[in-house]
Amino acid sequence: MNTYNPIDLLFDGMEKLSPGGNVHTLSVLRLLPTQQFQVIVDAGCGTGRQIMVLAKELDRLIHALDSYELFLHDLTRRAKADGIEHLIQTHCMDMKDIPGVFQHIDLLWSESAAYNIGFSNALTIWGSAINKGGFAIVSELSWLRDQVPDVVREFFLSGYPDMQSIQRNLAVAENTGYRVLTTYTLPNDAWIKGYYDLLEPRAKALIDHPDSFVRDFAVETVKEIEIFKSSEDSYGYVFYVLQRA
Ligand SMILES: C[S@@+](CC[C@H](N)C(=O)[O-])C[C@H]1O[C@@H](n2cnc3c(N)ncnc32)[C@H](O)[C@@H]1O
Repeated sequence: MNTYNPIDLLFDGMEKLSPGGNVHTLSVLRLLPTQQFQVIVDAGCGTGRQIMVLAKELDRLIHALDSYELFLHDLTRRAKADGIEHLIQTHCMDMKDIPGVFQHIDLLWSESAAYNIGFSNALTIWGSAINKGGFAIVSELSWLRDQVPDVVREFFLSGYPDMQSIQRNLAVAENTGYRVLTTYTLPNDAWIKGYYDLLEPRAKALIDHPDSFVRDFAVETVKEIEIFKSSEDSYGYVFYVLQRA
C-alpha cells in the first residue's frame, strides 16, 4: 500500500494550487455586468485562494466544494484565521453532482478544475443548476495559437489531449447553452509568482523520494514547469466568462 500522498507532499501549505492570483480573480469578477448574487458555488475550490478574495469582495456566503477533504480543512483553517468562516461553507463532493445539491446558482466559479470532468461535460452538467441569466466563470487550459513547439505539443498529447483552442471552447460554451460575455487570459507571470517558483524547488527536492509514486509525480511536475518555460506562450489559462442563455 502507498503510504505517501504525493499531492500532500508537494502542495502542503501552498496557498495556490494553480496559476493565478487575487488580482486576476478580481479582474475577472469585475467583467460581469452585476456584482449581486444570491447563490454562489466554487467548483473544485482546492484550498480556496480565490474563494477568500471573492467572499471578502462580495461579502456573501460561498459554497466551496471539492472532492479532497484535506484541501477543505485547509480552507476552513484559512477562513477562520481571516475571520470570514461565516462566508464559506464547504462541501466534500464531486463537482459532477452539483445539480443534485444546488438548483438555483447565480454565480458558478471554477478556476483550473473543470478539466477534471472535462470542460464541455462540466458546462453541460453545471448549466442545469445555473439560473437563466446566471453566470459561469470557468478557467480552462487552452491553446493560444496554432504554432506550438513540438516538445510542448507532445507533452500535452499525453498530459491533456483534450486541450482546445479558445475558439473551440467558445463554440463549446455556446453549444452547451451559454452566451459568451468575454474571456480573460492569465498573464505569463501569474504562472510563476507564488506557484511555479514555489513548486519547482519542492518538486526537485522530492525527485529522489523512496516512494515511486512521489518520485513520478515530482518528475512530472518538474517536466511540466520546463515545458512551460519553453512554451513560447502557445498555451495558457483562459477564463471563459459566460452567461446562462
Ligand atoms: C488544480 S486544483 C485547483 C484548485 C483551485 N480552484 C485553485 O485554483 O487553486 C483542482 C481541484 O479540483 C479538485 N477536484 C478534482 N476532481 C474533482 C471532482 N470530480 N469534484 C470536485 N473536486 C475535484 C481537486 O481536489 C483540486 O482541489
